[in-house]
Amino acid sequence: MAVQKVGVVGCGLMGSGIAQVCAQAGFQTFVREISGELVEKGLKGIEKNLARLVEKGTLTEAGKGEISGRLRGVTALEELKGCDVILEAIIEQLPAKRELFAVLDGLCPAHTIFASNTSSLTITEIAAATKRPQRFVGLHFFNPVPVMKLIEVVRTIATDPAVYEEMVAFGAKLGKTPVRANDGGGFIVNRLLVPYLLDAIRALEEGVGSVVDIDTSMKLGCGYPMGPFTLLDFVGLDTTLYISQIMFDEFKEKRFAAPPLLKRMVLAGWHGKKSGRGFYDYADPANPKPMNL
Ligand code: 3HC
Repeated sequence: MAVQKVGVVGCGLMGSGIAQVCAQAGFQTFVREISGELVEKGLKGIEKNLARLVEKGTLTEAGKGEISGRLRGVTALEELKGCDVILEAIIEQLPAKRELFAVLDGLCPAHTIFASNTSSLTITEIAAATKRPQRFVGLHFFNPVPVMKLIEVVRTIATDPAVYEEMVAFGAKLGKTPVRANDGGGFIVNRLLVPYLLDAIRALEEGVGSVVDIDTSMKLGCGYPMGPFTLLDFVGLDTTLYISQIMFDEFKEKRFAAPPLLKRMVLAGWHGKKSGRGFYDYADPANPKPMNL
């Protein structure tokens, strides 16, 4: 089966990025949000990203028009029933994802492949809400989606090998480098990244170094594009706490346990860059100042 039409459910930070790369790769893309305002907001963000590419000279004005022409914002799930693949990027909550896929399962023809962009929930448990677990995979993108080159293609024990290979090829068609991962907590990247980020917080708690010095060490000593605290603020402290709790539940290992400082910061509403405060204060976004922790 050749994928032609793609549905994306959720047009937030990840969903809008996913819809953008699908339309850029030439697919007719339907992106669904729960309200007209949220659809507008997501599509505006995509327009802004594409306009930046035109400014930089990496995209022509005509090319931008073609990409926008392939994108359609919708609010009704029924509008996705003609899609060959549906990618879900909604809130990271199991009941919401299961409910969504149960509805889509009733709407879509048998050939439609379902994919979740979850970063930590078990694909098997989401797929079990449908009658097509053999046509269900994880497609895990990274933030910022248009820039990050990786896609984790996740298979469960129930995924049909032919469907899986089709999704590996689909990931490559999106301009990403696919890696193959089995359905284990955190897949490949978060399995390694989450303990590293939590360890950075523990190092801070133990007084090993300051926020800035730990960030500078990992940037200049290891060549990472962002230090761990900048990355934590970028990913979101609430998101990191949530992922670590799911992974701790799965593995019962200390390295996945959330440090007390992370819990306190989330309780205080310091969720990172998006909330204006995290390990840094973003009152002046171009010049973040480390918080006094
Ligand atoms: N959308 C689109 N393009 C963006 C962007 C965005 N949000 N942010 C940056 N860019 C583009 C810029 O336009 C620029 O393009 P150009 O090279 O063609 O001019 C390019 O990315 C580089 O941007 P900048 O020069 O402004 O800044 P940097 O060189 O610092 O790059 C970065 C920014 C790509 C975000 C880089 O700092 C980076 O790679 N950081 C690490 C990000 C990371 O680790 N992401 C994974 C998080 S984990 C995750 O998502 C999994 C989840 O499950 C938790």
